[in-house]
Amino acid sequence: MMVQGTLTVPGDKSITHRLLLLAALARGTSEIHNPLTSLDARSSGAVLRRLGAEVSPLRSGRAVRVRGSGRFQPPDRDLHCGNSGTTARLLLGVLAAHPFTTTVTGDRSLRRRPMRRITKPLQRMGATVQDEGADGLPVTMTGGSLRAIEYQMPVSSAQLKGSLLLAGLVGEVSVAVREPVGRSRDHTERLLRSFGYAVTDDGEWIRFEPTGRLETFSVVVPGDASSAAFPVGIALLAQGGQLRIAGVGLNPTRTHYLEVLRRMGAVVGIEEGAAQAGEPVGDLIVGPASLQGVEVAAEEIPSLIDEIPMLAVLASRALGTTVFREAGELRVKESDRLGLLASNIRRLGGTAEVSGNDLVIEGTDYRPTGTVRTDGDHRLAMAFAVLGTVPDARVLVDNMGCADVSFPGFRHMLRRLGGRA
Ligand code: S3P
Repeated sequence: MMVQGTLTVPGDKSITHRLLLLAALARGTSEIHNPLTSLDARSSGAVLRRLGAEVSPLRSGRAVRVRGSGRFQPPDRDLHCGNSGTTARLLLGVLAAHPFTTTVTGDRSLRRRPMRRITKPLQRMGATVQDEGADGLPVTMTGGSLRAIEYQMPVSSAQLKGSLLLAGLVGEVSVAVREPVGRSRDHTERLLRSFGYAVTDDGEWIRFEPTGRLETFSVVVPGDASSAAFPVGIALLAQGGQLRIAGVGLNPTRTHYLEVLRRMGAVVGIEEGAAQAGEPVGDLIVGPASLQGVEVAAEEIPSLIDEIPMLAVLASRALGTTVFREAGELRVKESDRLGLLASNIRRLGGTAEVSGNDLVIEGTDYRPTGTVRTDGDHRLAMAFAVLGTVPDARVLVDNMGCADVSFPGFRHMLRRLGGRA
């Protein structure tokens, strides 16, 4: 396949969720331009409407307008977060500071994902929590006035960090958190600073002080750095040409996968433009490359957590061995990504295994052939569809529709570039 031209990817998922929440908490009308309008973003929109915010329909190509009233109203039924872990976890932090009882739930995949990592510190801050005896959803939370917290997090997770910072924001208390290994994405910190809150980072502790004031806003969401990984993968596997992916978020806590790709032998050009929503933004320019296996250390995992599926399928075609060290968090994503990455690479004729919490991939020049089991996981579907662009590959993905969770238009993009979907 030859690649050429310029394309864009949808708005950033993490930033869209956070802006929707903050807009719903501000008093008055905010505008979010270039929002992600995928199923996950719609889950956030829907729960915020239940909590009393007016949220215009999330439609592709349209800005979303959100009218908040300064505080949430008790909802008349359970809050259903669909497949969206970010919606559920950030929301729990906000609800912890609201004096009413709510039940948060989600689809089958989300109900199985760990929530006690969030509810335990929120309980310590003063919220009352009931789950059904298992570490997942539904969770029933009664919020109220909160205490400050200083918390050593058990996992490096932007959803956990963000949830506690938002609890601090609404509850007007100080929050200090420390991540155990590496650094997760810092969108919440950047946004809170933009409202005048003191958020400091001494390289160890991230400290929030309730010094600011939430105001209405109008911002443009950058293209999603994680979604950009898929066309980057297509360009790297192509036989010729060059692709420009325009308007992508370049937050350093999100672009570490580009650094790993460079270590693998890729040449990725970056042309930086003007910042948007307090985030660096620019174009990525990338073409085919022959890749080599690399070692990815445990500290690197949090800053490329969502790009591991794409990196792993590229590694399966690279020369030599690639190891992702201590990638156990992948077991509790939308699917068991660790197990399914290894088993699907093997099903298609490649060589991969899970050893402890490490993902070990032996690159070969195999012709990927077979059916991929996604368990409805959007990033697995997209990563393996990209692998299907290798010449003479015959890759069938069992559920391509789930790409709509984060990347509406993925299949259209793939077909436009000459792939099958
Ligand atoms: C996200 C954080 C990550 C990531 C998810 C979005 C966020 O999860 O996998 O897609 O917006 O905070 P963890 O923080 O749980 O690793």
